[in-house]
Amino acid sequence: MNNPKQPLITVQNISKHYVVTQNIFSPKTIIKAVDDVSFTISKGESLGLIGESGSGKTTVASLVLKLIKADTGKVVYKDTDLTSLTEDEMRTMRKELQIIFQHSQGTLDPKMTVAEFLTEPLLLHKIVKPYETSKEVSRLLNLVGLSESDKSKFPYQMSGGQLQRVGIARAISTRPTFIICDEPVSALDVSIQGQILNLLKDLQKELDLTYLFISHNLKVVKHICDRVAVMYKGKLIEINNTRAILEDPSEEYTKKLVESML
Ligand SMILES: Nc1ncnc2c1ncn2[C@@H]1O[C@H](COP(=O)(O)OP(=O)(O)O)[C@@H](O)[C@H]1O
Ligand SMILES: [Mg+2]
Repeated sequence: MNNPKQPLITVQNISKHYVVTQNIFSPKTIIKAVDDVSFTISKGESLGLIGESGSGKTTVASLVLKLIKADTGKVVYKDTDLTSLTEDEMRTMRKELQIIFQHSQGTLDPKMTVAEFLTEPLLLHKIVKPYETSKEVSRLLNLVGLSESDKSKFPYQMSGGQLQRVGIARAISTRPTFIICDEPVSALDVSIQGQILNLLKDLQKELDLTYLFISHNLKVVKHICDRVAVMYKGKLIEINNTRAILEDPSEEYTKKLVESML
């Protein structure tokens, strides 16, 4: 039994620096993609992460899920220090920690049908028995607003919004507790964005999910996030409840950023 007051995710002083050279004549420079960032997320919460392009949001997401290795710092999920897990242990843990990308198309194999794509994680993580996968895929499609007839479709036969629904179905297929949404509606037509946001919000309630929601869209932040963290040049400069960040930020930079997002 987890202590209800204990955060679901604790990020402590994580950093990721890259050494880059523009060309052989120029000196090496260090890019502090993420620089000593700390925050917590409670169970059931939606924490927004905002900041201009290049401020380090996607790097934070990758560090939290250990898709890349941190230079320093640690990430604790429930009682487990993810940084201390072996590759094998992390693979098992991944079913609880999922991510939805901006471009689900990029993660879909063009030669795989929707059913094949969704069956893969079900078998890998032994979510259901092999003979139950077809029924489970139908259940997932239903949850994300797709239908039985979509099972046999290939990615090129679907719209951007439908593909994002498939990406969401794959993320929830392993019955995760925590999902990082990295700009999940930014690549979609404005008319579709609201539908996908509502879906994510409904799923959060229905499946008791906790979100880290990366977005540069104020509508998204207002609609989904309980609190918002602001990044600037690799640093987390402010974190507060959504209303305070949008209406009464303490940092001048946050005010400018929020105005630029309007
Ligand atoms: N693999 C990498 N090698 C070198 N620089 C990187 C790498 N990944 C990210 N960066 C740099 O780190 C900074 C933060 O990138 P990113 O986390 O993608 O920002 P955001 O998601 O906020 O747009 C950027 O300056 C980016 O160019
Ligand atoms: Mg990004």
